[in-house]
Amino acid sequence: MAEAPEEIRPPDEPFRIKVVEAIERLDRAHREEALQRAGLNLFNLSSREVYIDLLTDSGTAAMSDHQWAAMMLGDESYAGSRNFEHFESTVRELTGFPHVIPTHQGRAAEHLLLSLLARPGTIVPNNMHFDTTRAHVLRAGARPVNLAVPEAYDPDSDHPFKGNVDLARLDRLLREQGPEKVPLAMVTITNNTGGGQPVSIENLRAVSERVHAAGRPLYLDMCRWAENAYLIREREPGWSGRSIREIGRAIFDLADGATMSAKKDGLVNIGGFVATRDEALAGRLKEELIVYEGFPTYGGLARRDLEAVAVGLREGADLEFLRYRIGQVRYLADLLVREGIPIFRPVGGHGVYLDAARFLPHVPVSEYPGQSLVVELYREGGVRTVEVGSVMFGDAEPEAGGAPPLELVRLAIPRRVYTGAHLRYVADTVTAVWRRRSEIHGVRMVQVPPRLRHFTARFAPVEPPIPARAGPGRP
Ligand code: F0G
Repeated sequence: MAEAPEEIRPPDEPFRIKVVEAIERLDRAHREEALQRAGLNLFNLSSREVYIDLLTDSGTAAMSDHQWAAMMLGDESYAGSRNFEHFESTVRELTGFPHVIPTHQGRAAEHLLLSLLARPGTIVPNNMHFDTTRAHVLRAGARPVNLAVPEAYDPDSDHPFKGNVDLARLDRLLREQGPEKVPLAMVTITNNTGGGQPVSIENLRAVSERVHAAGRPLYLDMCRWAENAYLIREREPGWSGRSIREIGRAIFDLADGATMSAKKDGLVNIGGFVATRDEALAGRLKEELIVYEGFPTYGGLARRDLEAVAVGLREGADLEFLRYRIGQVRYLADLLVREGIPIFRPVGGHGVYLDAARFLPHVPVSEYPGQSLVVELYREGGVRTVEVGSVMFGDAEPEAGGAPPLELVRLAIPRRVYTGAHLRYVADTVTAVWRRRSEIHGVRMVQVPPRLRHFTARFAPVEPPIPARAGPGRP
């Protein structure tokens, strides 16, 4: 008897559902109309036009009953709110960083830190800058340089820590430029732009030693630190029995501070912070904060939001939650791999990244295969995803020795929002597009914004070549 194929099962949810939100599925004609109106850019869609929204895992989590209850504890005092105290003590306890400055989201933290530390003519290394980090480095007049290991650019490599920094290139940068040209180094955990890939403690330790030997500070972009810690627990020798918080502390102990968008592993819809060990810098950050965000005990947020962050940061580090969360990402990936669909490997922490270059090998990079695939996934099933490739990064200056951007489509999974059946629907949608891939054509950018262009660019389809007409002597 033929062996039954192994069943691919979604992870068991460690919660039950208390509140639901209705979602609607538009018919194909309405989706087509929406696509045209949006200029083939799904950032321009109304959420009403989307059935399953995998645009981002940022600020899209479902909060828990404890977080909603915390919102009712809002102490909306301008100065000295109790919610700030709870938030500050939670971040201190998790990270060990003594100075905690709240911001409304991650990019505000990046703005504060980079506008103070990065100077015109300097260089800021990172494993890979996320787009807003890169934009803030550029805005400060500095140059962002990506130093991820070569495996980070190879969709087939199963390297367990593809988020790692290439130490030889870091050494070369510090040697050739001199520390005065490198005001700080950053490492993004997990590496979102490179497929949500983790960084190992061993690599972070080596980076920390080098950066500190040069007399420079190391800052982490810790948006997805708990997912990174979970992957360390699974993959890095010596860490398997440890708690997420223990691993987190081992990571943070190697750094001088961090920026965080709490909209990811903080399980909130808004919020973030910058934290540091440097008291003098903290004072300057607070001065900037007051100009751009608000008083240091609320930083651009309602105080109740800080309370939700305090609770969410702990929930986000819960092992059972992370097992389910990363289990969902792997479930979706397994369904796609079974169909032979090319994805970026290994599967990272917060989403599945389709390898658009191999999904649509007949579409040249100049016709944006990633964006073309994003459009087709919406057209097919109302699933909204995001391109992470030549639209998002194609205007970046090619770095010395750097590879061209990967051509990926990210299916980011919001936390605690979609069920196994939703993910199954997504897999069916991707599979349907995969089966008709040879009929898919590219797109061209008809409106090109100067910065962060993926948010506002508009596209038009590249018309397929007109087939040769049948005539005398032709079949
Ligand atoms: N750093 C990383 C690694 C990020 O992924 C993001 C946001 C930010 C910084 C900025 O944080 O949005 O709170 O200002 N990433 C979202 C995403 C937008 O879809 O990956 P923010």
